Amino acid sequence: MSIPEIVYYVLALALCVFFALLKKWNEVRYSRKGIPPGTMGWPIFGETAGFLKQGPDFMKSKRARYGNLFKSHALGSPVIISMDPELNRYILKNEAKGLVPGYPVSMRNILGNSNIAEVHGALHKRIRGSILSFIGPAAIRDHLLPEVNKFMRSFLDNWAGKTVDIQDKTKQMAFFVSMKLIVENEPSPFHEAFKATFDNIVSGTFSLPIKIPGTNYFRGLQTRKKVVATLKEVLAKRRSSSATHADILDQLMRSEDFKYKLNDEEIIDQIITFLYSGYETVSTTTMMAVKYLHDYPRVLEKVREEHFAIQQRKRPEDLVSWDDYKDMVYTRAVIFETLRFANIVNGVLRKTTEDVELNGFTIPQGWRVYVYTRETNYDPILYPEPLNFNPSRWLEKGLESHNHNMLFGAGGRLCPGKELGSVIISIFLRYFVTKYRWEADGNELLKFPRVEAPNGLHIRVAEYTITRKES
Ligand code: HEM
Repeated sequence: MSIPEIVYYVLALALCVFFALLKKWNEVRYSRKGIPPGTMGWPIFGETAGFLKQGPDFMKSKRARYGNLFKSHALGSPVIISMDPELNRYILKNEAKGLVPGYPVSMRNILGNSNIAEVHGALHKRIRGSILSFIGPAAIRDHLLPEVNKFMRSFLDNWAGKTVDIQDKTKQMAFFVSMKLIVENEPSPFHEAFKATFDNIVSGTFSLPIKIPGTNYFRGLQTRKKVVATLKEVLAKRRSSSATHADILDQLMRSEDFKYKLNDEEIIDQIITFLYSGYETVSTTTMMAVKYLHDYPRVLEKVREEHFAIQQRKRPEDLVSWDDYKDMVYTRAVIFETLRFANIVNGVLRKTTEDVELNGFTIPQGWRVYVYTRETNYDPILYPEPLNFNPSRWLEKGLESHNHNMLFGAGGRLCPGKELGSVIISIFLRYFVTKYRWEADGNELLKFPRVEAPNGLHIRVAEYTITRKES
């Protein structure tokens, strides 16, 4: 062996030893008595690459090695991952025991310090009570349902003969319907301008908090500034006028109920959070429901039957009433089955405010806890034949309220938009399936870290003539 070759091998060996020691150091750094088993990967980066690239397979292989509760380091923080449905429920129901929401810093800075996920205890109760008073079932029945209905009727007009990207369309739908409910009287250019920038907010919340021009995070923060300025202008305009409006902003501003009264900063943060929370969840669920209804024609037939039966007892100009909505039981089942089958929500994040004991292990203060619910969606005991798209399973009493069903979360943070989200998707489907039939192209779909069609999901839409003659 020549001298340069020897130097080369020594250097290579030294590098291997260095990296092995670095990894070992990272393991030692986070090892404490009583912590769940697992590995922490590289300093700073942890196991983020494996977590993002392999997604569900990463989780499954870890579970096979360490069981349902294990440690890792991902997305910049040490994290405990729980795949145990009972424990997941316990975590979500015990916020007061030091298990508060633990969403990334970028999310907090872009959605605002008063956004509901950032507040706990009495303040959380007050903000949540306020939100529920304007998007809960009573508000939907009395004000929101007719507005959603009018919006959907015009949104879904005139699609026949066109090829549309249903991903894009459902995003527009989810955004504009929320805007309409929040600020009903602003002209459409205002809504359009808001939508154009809102995607920056979404991508900013999912990025590393690096505040350098050109990064998604930076763009998200800049957009937040603009959005806050615009909303302040709207608040000032409304305060200087005696006119009242039948929308959520008016209710927030004029709430006389001291218990739920919010200041301007809190109002603005709730509006941004409201738009944000109902945006991707509602649009992706609607997109995937359209896809599954196409792939499962017998399910589509049943949904159509349900809507035509409701339509038959009404005049064409009548809006959907609360009772009509309550009769859309099979459509509701399709929505729940879509949430389960497509795994729209993989899980939710918590962080510990003190050392917390879980299943006999100690979770150190300041660690994140990933309540991973995805696997439960395919639990054959809870959902027999889980790989079948079978909405009828949701017609069985008790499944929607089953302890392990966490499609909308659980405990004190259970989604306050659950009913409104279901109404929006149901009314969309009501017009879509009764007016149109559609053909889908085989566009690529990604399922992790979130469900999306990277190149759009294109469908060719035609009028649903046969059934319309029958009705
Ligand atoms: C299919 C639609 C939806 C799904 C699957 C969904 C899912 C969820 C989940 C899983 C959580 C729990 C988060 C956690 O525990 O950290 C949640 C919370 C929340 N959702 Fe939804 N959501 C949907 C629609 C909506 C809509 C339409 C709105 C608003 C209009 C909304 C507003 C919220 C808010 C404000 C929270 C935070 C509640 C709190 O911290 O107390 N969601 N949602």
